Amino acid sequence: MAASPDSKVFRATTTAPVNIAVIKYWGKRDAVLNLPTNSSLSVTLSQRSLRTLTTASCASFYPAQDELILNGKPQDIQSSKRTLACLASLRSLRREIEASDSSLPQLSAFPLRIVSENNFPTAAGLASSAAGFAALVRAVADLYQLPQSARDLSRIARQGSGSACRSLMGGYVAWRAGSLEDGSDSLAEEVASQSHWPEMRAVVLVVSAEKKDVPSTEGMQTTVATSNLFATRATTVVPERMDAIETAIQNRDFPAFAEITMRDSNGFHATCLDSWPPIFYMNDVSRAAVRLVHDINRAVGRTVCSYTFDAGPNAVIYYLEKDTELVAGTIKTILGEKSEGWEGPFYEPLKNLTAPGVALDQVDPRTVELLKDGVSRVILTGVGEGPVSVDDHLVNEKGDAIYH
Ligand code: DP6
Repeated sequence: MAASPDSKVFRATTTAPVNIAVIKYWGKRDAVLNLPTNSSLSVTLSQRSLRTLTTASCASFYPAQDELILNGKPQDIQSSKRTLACLASLRSLRREIEASDSSLPQLSAFPLRIVSENNFPTAAGLASSAAGFAALVRAVADLYQLPQSARDLSRIARQGSGSACRSLMGGYVAWRAGSLEDGSDSLAEEVASQSHWPEMRAVVLVVSAEKKDVPSTEGMQTTVATSNLFATRATTVVPERMDAIETAIQNRDFPAFAEITMRDSNGFHATCLDSWPPIFYMNDVSRAAVRLVHDINRAVGRTVCSYTFDAGPNAVIYYLEKDTELVAGTIKTILGEKSEGWEGPFYEPLKNLTAPGVALDQVDPRTVELLKDGVSRVILTGVGEGPVSVDDHLVNEKGDAIYH
């Protein structure tokens, strides 16, 4: 028997990926619309390693206020302007299609219940807001059966968290800063698909932070207001790098991609140090990871790996699959079997190797000690696809949240 419209629960579920920028977004030209001072570019990481799973549901009988449950904990949506902005934009698009077709159920009038889960521990210190907002926007857009493209939806996800707009697509993704005041040209675009350059791999070195960092939203405001280096970065340095890295990606030129990535990470952290008061995201262990990458590249005699750091001490090291042994193998030899994370699909090429990688006498001994003591876990991953629609709902047919 079909459920009556009054008792029916409408649902849509999606996964969304994490992305790690190689040209960093740092600075807002409009904090309300969340418009950036410069364009940025990221690699979408495989959801086989890291992903957010989100179900958006709505029903006429739900309590009047929209609900959001993250990793089992109800969130106070009313105090999150960003979430409210995303939901209001999506509802108004649904209202438009309902107005033009009266046979459609009036979902825009129903309260929402959104349930979301990350498959990675919060303790990993990975910013989950990008995957989280991308999944929320994609799931509600699917629930509302909106015709908008991922590019269109990226404008909405941007209001949740800037970097989230890049998680609506797979592969290599640019966020064009745009120049219009209303932000309508500030959106994400796929520069190259995952299949264009599928060999890209990344290992995340999870470094524990002693103290909580300055949150990125606040940190970037301080940098824009106080750093002298910042203006040149936004107006000259980044536009040139965007062109150069897009060419490197089109040509699958890893040495060029790697050098631009490392220089941009260093340049971004230099503007943090140049802020007043200065902001430090990298620590001694992060700097050891920098030295390790340069030591490996020097020992091998070509650029086989590159590092990048976000607003925290974790190192993300990019390399190509063919160099897994040289890069991930060296890291595994340094950290030892006891470190966590050496499993899963991206571990296969390394599994049966004994003493792999470059000889450790090629690496500064202080670097080895710092990494051994300071890196507790690795995450092996690689370039991946964008959000995927799935049937693994986190809300059952009656509308109850399902906790795993
Ligand atoms: C260093 O996207 O978290 O990771 O827009 O204020 O939510 P808000 O900032 P957010 O900043 C990310 C900064 C970064 C660089 C990047 O991902 O491009």
